[in-house]
Formats: sequence, structure tokens, C-alpha cells
Amino acid sequence: MDLAIAFDNNSPLPLHQQLYQELRQAILNGRLSPGVRIPSTRSLAKYLSISRTTVTQSYEQLLSEGYLTTVLGSGTFVCAQLPDDLLHSTPIESSQIITRSPIKLNRYGQVLSQTEDLPRIPAPNTPINFRYGQPAIDQFPLKLWRRLLSRYFYKDLSWLDYSTQPLGYQPLREAIARYLSSSRAVKCEYDQVLIVNGTQQALDLIVRLLIEPGDIIALEDPGYMSARLIFQTQGAELLPITVDDSGLMVKELVNSTKKPIRLVYVTPSHQFPTGAILSLPRRLELLAWAQQTGGLIIEDDYDSEYRYGDRPIPALQGLDRSDSVLYIGTFSKVLFPGLRIGYLVLPKNLVALFARAKWLSDRHLPILEQQALADFIAEGHLERHIRKMRSLYERRCQVLVQALNVYLGEKATILGEKAGIHLMVKLHSHLSDEEIIQHATQKGVGIMSAKPQYLQPHSTGEFIFGYGELTEQQLVEGIRRLARIFTA
Ligand SMILES: Cc1ncc(COP(=O)(O)O)c(C=O)c1O
Repeated sequence: MDLAIAFDNNSPLPLHQQLYQELRQAILNGRLSPGVRIPSTRSLAKYLSISRTTVTQSYEQLLSEGYLTTVLGSGTFVCAQLPDDLLHSTPIESSQIITRSPIKLNRYGQVLSQTEDLPRIPAPNTPINFRYGQPAIDQFPLKLWRRLLSRYFYKDLSWLDYSTQPLGYQPLREAIARYLSSSRAVKCEYDQVLIVNGTQQALDLIVRLLIEPGDIIALEDPGYMSARLIFQTQGAELLPITVDDSGLMVKELVNSTKKPIRLVYVTPSHQFPTGAILSLPRRLELLAWAQQTGGLIIEDDYDSEYRYGDRPIPALQGLDRSDSVLYIGTFSKVLFPGLRIGYLVLPKNLVALFARAKWLSDRHLPILEQQALADFIAEGHLERHIRKMRSLYERRCQVLVQALNVYLGEKATILGEKAGIHLMVKLHSHLSDEEIIQHATQKGVGIMSAKPQYLQPHSTGEFIFGYGELTEQQLVEGIRRLARIFTA
């Protein structure tokens, strides 16, 4: 049998792949019908003037995928039943469908199905997108990262296996402990550090292990909605605490007449979303409250690396004398969010329990990235990257503030401009948040209302402006376009 095959010299596919695809296509469209004997590798190679190895490679792939079969002594044949036939099952008649009552959800499922939607993030294709929390991923040193990954890729096969360390790769835990003690005054040894899948998993494990339904969790209002949803879905009772220029108003906690507060969730280095920084007296007041009541504190230190101007205040964890603080950090802002690596610093007596929960939940994080990250930190790349990004973000922050002042003037009040990669801005206008978002979208600008971050009703007009990933030109142009909404 002669088989005409057209090879494409410009195709990026190697010849054996092209031949495989042509033969597979011929089998599927019936040019080569089931049961037919196909040429030997030698004769097809000769006929097509290609090497026999090329033909053998494509036959082997077709054999392994079930398109061809060999019969000893007789040759190679197209299979009578093709794998694709098995994929197209016969349609089920409507009389065969059994209608069943809706699947019953447990309490967690019920609460989750009833919780409000996650904040509306502007569509990714919005030309100027002020979505919050996004670092400048184009600045990440990709070549270096690839070098670090490949250092371990062929070293041994250990990263392909289950890890024996559910708490995380030990050199990474050591590097994080050193980094935290020097840059954040966190007091910990490496064996207190649990490597987690971002802040989100740290919160999830804490709540699953330490909170009973009905327990009271106090949290900043406005605050981080993703944390709030975790607390709500576990059945905790939420106690909103006001935030002012100095952060969480600890007095409201102390004066609370509710039953004992089990846990407080705070973002002291850079309150999310207002940007307030928890003052030192408030920090000490909060720790005293924990010591007196036995309450616990979750310190979410998600972007403290980016502070512009004032010296950083030591982390609550470092000031704590009573093992009351569970400290969470993440590489989502400092490096890139897709990395999904964060850390939880625990009091020593909780470590073994959290290790079990982590193992039960998802075993551990991928090992290769942890190995690369450990070297990234130990060799000083992290500090260099932070230094570079700090000055880039500080400049972007200044440009955004200036643009807001120039184009919006008194129509905008800026909050929290000393840290992080977002600002909260109050826009003074008779338009609703939804109307502002709609007008902005029409002008190619994506902005996010701060409303979903509030637990209690509040006045509208507050927006979160992420500036991490926008160039100076985009920042200015974005605000210029936005201002037209209010002058039209
Ligand atoms: C308050 C707060 N904590 C933590 C994070 C980071 O979460 P993750 O580490 O799960 O990416 C964010 C992201 O925007 C945040 O706003």
C-alpha cells in the first residue's frame, strides 16, 4: 500500500510527530480503515524517503495510544476499535435520566453558598487596570529563577517524590527564620516556621484547628474580605472593630461586652485596605489584651516589605511575651502570587499539630520551588529584589498621588500612602460606586470599590487603587481619564 503523506518543511513539529498526526488523521477519517494492514517501517521509510527511526517513532506512539496493533509474524494493523470511539459514548435518553433532589450541603457548604460574591476584579483585558494586590511581575528576575530551578532539577529525583517534611523544605524554613528576625524583628527559630500555600492556607488551617462554631473573631472593619470569608464559613461570630489613622481601635476590643473574644485578625504593618499603620502604643495595648484574656492574635504581614519613609515598627510577634501571636507572611507581593508560597510562624507547642493538619490537607508544597526559593533568599537575591522594587513602587506611588492631586484635586481624599502597593481613595461625587466603575470601564480604566471589604454599612465612594503593575505613564493616563467622569 502506498501512503501519500505531505510533510511541511516550515512546521515547528519534528518529522515523526508530523507523520504520527497524518497517520492518526488517516485512521480517524477512514482512509486507513479498521483492520487494514499498514506498510512495514522499512517500506514506508523508503517510500517517503525518510529515516526508518522516524517511522518507528510515530508507529510506536500510535501503538501506545491504541490506534495500531501488531500481530506477531503478520505485521501491523489499524485497530478494530479506536480509542476515540470509546470517548463518544451513546447519548443517554431522557427517560433514563433519574431526577434526584439537590445534593445536601454541610454547614460549611451552606455558609459558603450564601456568602456574598468575591470582590469584582476589573476584567483582565482592561487597558489601565488598577486591580489591587498585583505586583510588577514583569520585573521578576526570570533568568535567575530558571537557573535556581535547574540547579535542583537534575540534581536528584527527590523533588519528584513525596516530601518527608510536611512543614516545608528545611533550608527554606531556616532562610525565612533568618530573614524575619533581621527584617521584621520576629522572634522565631526555623522549627516554628510552617511553609503554606499562601496566606489563605495559613488562615484556613488556623481556623480549622483553633475555632469552634460560635467562637468570636474580632477583625478590622474594613478588612481583608478573603480572611473574613474563611472565618464566616467556619461558623465563627464576627465582631467588627473600627479602624482609624492608627489602625485597629484596640479600645473597642477591650471594652467589648460580648462573650470572650477568641481571636483577633489584624494587618498591623499596612492595614488592608485603608493603609493605616498600627501605632506602637496600640500594639502594646493589643498584646496586653491578649495576655490578660488569653485571646489569640493573627498578624497578617502581607506586604510590610514596602514601606516608604518612616522606619518600620517591629512585628507584633516580636513584641509578644505570651505566645499569643500567629504570624503570617507571603511571597505573593514580594515575588509573585502564582508562586503560592507563604509561611506561618507558630508558638512551639502548636507546630506538631499544624504539621499533621498540613499533611492531611495537601501533604506539602511542591519541593522544587521551595529549593529554588531557599537559595534565592540565602544568596541575597530576595533583599536585592525588594530594594529594587521598593524604589520602583515608591516612585509609582508618588506619581499616582501627584496625578490624583493634579487631576482630581479636592474631589479625591487619599488614604495610606506610606506603604504597600495600593492606595485607598475616597472619591467625592454624587455618583454611586457602580456608576463610577461603569464610567471608568467605558474609558478603559478598571477600579475596585472598597465596599465589599466592609462588614458594617458605611458611606460609599471609597476605591482601592493598586499601582504595583502600572507604569508611570499608565498611572497618569488612568487618573486623567477617570477625572473626566467628574468634569463631564
Ligand atoms: C490582607 C492580605 N493578606 C494576604 C494577601 C495575600 O494572600 P496570599 O498569600 O494567599 O496570596 C493579600 C492579597 O491581596 C491581602 O490583601
